Order: sequence, then C-alpha cells, then structure tokens
Amino acid sequence: MESRQPSQFPPGMPLEKALSRAMERISASGVQYPDGWFDRLVRKYSRTGIAYPFALIMAGTPRLAGHFAYARALQQEGLFLDYGCGCGDSVRALIRAGVSRDRIRAYDPDPSVVGLGFDLYRDRAETCGLFTVSRQFPFRTREFGCVFSTLVLPCLGDDREFWEYLGNARAALRPGGIFFGTTMGHYLPVESRHPQSRLERVMTAARFAECLAQAGFTRVEIVGEPVVRTFPASLVRAGAAVPVVRNALRQVFARFPGINNCNLFVIHFCAVKEAAPEDAGSWSGITGQP
Ligand SMILES: C[S@@+](CC[C@H](N)C(=O)[O-])C[C@H]1O[C@@H](n2cnc3c(N)ncnc32)[C@H](O)[C@@H]1O
Repeated sequence: MESRQPSQFPPGMPLEKALSRAMERISASGVQYPDGWFDRLVRKYSRTGIAYPFALIMAGTPRLAGHFAYARALQQEGLFLDYGCGCGDSVRALIRAGVSRDRIRAYDPDPSVVGLGFDLYRDRAETCGLFTVSRQFPFRTREFGCVFSTLVLPCLGDDREFWEYLGNARAALRPGGIFFGTTMGHYLPVESRHPQSRLERVMTAARFAECLAQAGFTRVEIVGEPVVRTFPASLVRAGAAVPVVRNALRQVFARFPGINNCNLFVIHFCAVKEAAPEDAGSWSGITGQP
C-alpha cells in the first residue's frame, strides 16, 4: 500500500521544529527516547518526507478527552474505531484512559503516517495489532459502539470520498452507536467564498449537520469553537495546544485567499446511528457559532 506524496511543512514550522515539539509533548506522557533518536528521525523523514505534516504538528496534543461526547463514548458498549487515525494519538489516549486494548481498533489508508506514530510512541510491538492500514475501509461488521474521527474531513479529496467516508462510518456502527469527532468549519457557505478557496469539505456547521443527516445519522449535535479556543485553558497551559493549532492553521490555510482564523472554526460533532425506527428523531442542535 502506497503513501500519499509528501506535503510541505508550513513556513515557520519545519520538520525539525514540528518533530522536536511532538517528541517533547509525547515524552511528557512517559515515552522515553534513546540517545540520537531525534537525529535519526530527522534523517529518516528528511529523506522520505511526511504525507500529512499536520498529523506531526498535532501529535501528542490532547484532542479526544476534551470532546463533548467523550464521556458518552466511554459508556458505549462494543468496540471503538479511530477512523483516519494518523499517528494514533487518540488510540494511545484511550489506552492511557484505561480502555482495554481488545476494544480499540484504528484504521488509516496511509501506512507512512501510522509508521510515524510508531516512531513517536516507540510501541510498535505492543500496539501494531490495533492498526489496520488498507486502501479500502476494512470494517463492515456493525460491531462498533463508537467511531471517532479527527481532522480527516479536510483531507478528503472529493465528494465521492466524503460520502464514502460518512457511509463507512455509519455502516461500521452497531445500531445505537455514535459517530463523533472534530473537523474544521467555515462561517461562509462554499458558494460565497473566493473561487480559489472553496475547500468543499470545510463547510458551515449547518451544511455539515445536513450531510450527517443525509448519510443516515440522527441526533446530530455540533459544537462550534473558534480556532483560538480549541482546548481548555488548563490543557493549553500544560501542553500549549492552542498556539500549536492556531499557528499551524494560520500557516496551512495561508495559501488560500480569504481563509484565515477569523472565518475558520473547529467543529466538534456527534451523531447517532438509530437503534430502531421508532427511536428516529431528526433533531439537530448547533451551538457555539454566530
Ligand atoms: C491531518 S491527519 C489527522 C490524523 C488523526 N486523525 C489526528 O487527529 O491526528 C488526516 C488523516 O486522514 C487520513 N485519511 C485521508 N484520507 C482518508 C480516507 N479516505 N479515509 C480515512 N482516512 C483518511 C490520512 O491518511 C491522515 O492520517
């Protein structure tokens, strides 16, 4: 299985800086690096490049536990799936939170980003069994109680991939299971944006809620958050998560005319695959955006 072509790191956040910050955050969670590990990874990834620099820039920042649906997710029966897991931060966060490894699965189509996670967490032997890498989505079992997914949507290439992604998430869930996660939103509808900055998969909260409903989810909840307030202040102080996100986003989106921190926001979402037709209710609640 081939990796996506390497992407450029944003200006001001070269590989070395992103890597050293990620290693600093991850070592704070107890991972130890042997001497020379940083240099070794710099050499390796300077040679191969990194397909999703943002996955490295974000590696080790807390994302899952701050989600409004996290507590609900922990109460679900069945397996957890991290859909588009990247380096697998959320998988390791679940393990640290005490969720049994037997209940955790992670999927990503790109082997290089999963491999980067093993290099950062140095746990290939213990965790590789939790990860599946394949071009095709491998789960159709309806055995997942939760499917969660962070920052995958903006990376999807086109509408076909987008609808397939939502359809897969729904198909993999058992009835009553929840799909939750985080993506980027834009305050303006696609049609009102600069022609070179359409970023179709970065949509308004209302449009995203509609898409979730169209894909067969109900009880759609969306909490929008300005980019600058992505994580609680305590976590910001501990891990400097917000400056990382804010600066990285500013740099990543700077190449799109008219896209900036003022019109982008973070979408936290949760939706349910209904247990039975009589439960179906198509309410949706959107909070936290003008
Ligand atoms: C920015 S990274 C985010 C990774 C991880 N979820 C996180 O929050 O750190 C985007 C991820 O989406 C994955 N991805 C791209 N296309 C995908 C698809 N069609 N289905 C699932 N994942 C996909 C990429 O391989 C990459 O790991």
